[in-house]
Amino acid sequence: MTALAQLAHQPIGVFDSGIGGLSILQALRAELPQEDVVYVADSAHAPYGERDEALVRERALRITQDLIDQHHIKALVVACNTATAVAIAELRALHPALPIVGVEPALKPAAARSRTHRVGVLATRATLASAKYRALQMSLQTEAAFIDVPCDGLAAAIEADNTPEIARLCQHYLTALGPLGQKVDDIDTIVLGCTHYPFASKVFNENGASGLELLESGAPVARQTRRLLEAAQLLNTQGGELTAVATGSDTSLRWALAHWRIA
Ligand code: DGL
Repeated sequence: MTALAQLAHQPIGVFDSGIGGLSILQALRAELPQEDVVYVADSAHAPYGERDEALVRERALRITQDLIDQHHIKALVVACNTATAVAIAELRALHPALPIVGVEPALKPAAARSRTHRVGVLATRATLASAKYRALQMSLQTEAAFIDVPCDGLAAAIEADNTPEIARLCQHYLTALGPLGQKVDDIDTIVLGCTHYPFASKVFNENGASGLELLESGAPVARQTRRLLEAAQLLNTQGGELTAVATGSDTSLRWALAHWRIA
């Protein structure tokens, strides 16, 4: 077997602060069912979104290095908007030969779809404050107005499966966006800019977002991963195993994998 064919059989590494990245993993499993995947939930350091950039960057670098050293990954998916925002440039510089896919809030598709040209963006405080996000928003400023709301506590509530708190926070942050609907000056499109939030889509809909477009990034990330693997001739047609580990407690991870039927 050639070295390239051997490398194609290595797993894809995927990580997030916790279970949020499972919303990306779901799309990856659907798009690339024959790839082996190692998923790392950094539960010992979750949530990332209200922490120092330096800590998130250090964790992203550490987890990537461990995935390379211990699992010999052939590609990396950073299934976390916060870690992508603060660390992806450095990860690419450190590992130029490794195909790396990140996730960023879906502002571009949202701007293209919004009829009122007003888009709400729900994300972590760290993502919204990052230079990468500011630059993305700036590049689209002629296409739509973006109303950002940092959703402190929401990823943690989803992580803990705390149903009343998830409902309270979803309602609170939707209210903070301002008028929602199809009238001029209403927000008609909402970007779920944190990979945890798709797991609260139903709750958002029950609390005022029904009838609006809620945009997430799982499918585009999965398609981009396929494109990069194809270009590097690294697609696997014989695997399909999922290994999921947590750096701290794995209770949420095991529960979420079973609950969302991800295998
Ligand atoms: N799921 C992550 C994101 O997409 C991080 C959430 C958090 O840990 O605060 O931003």
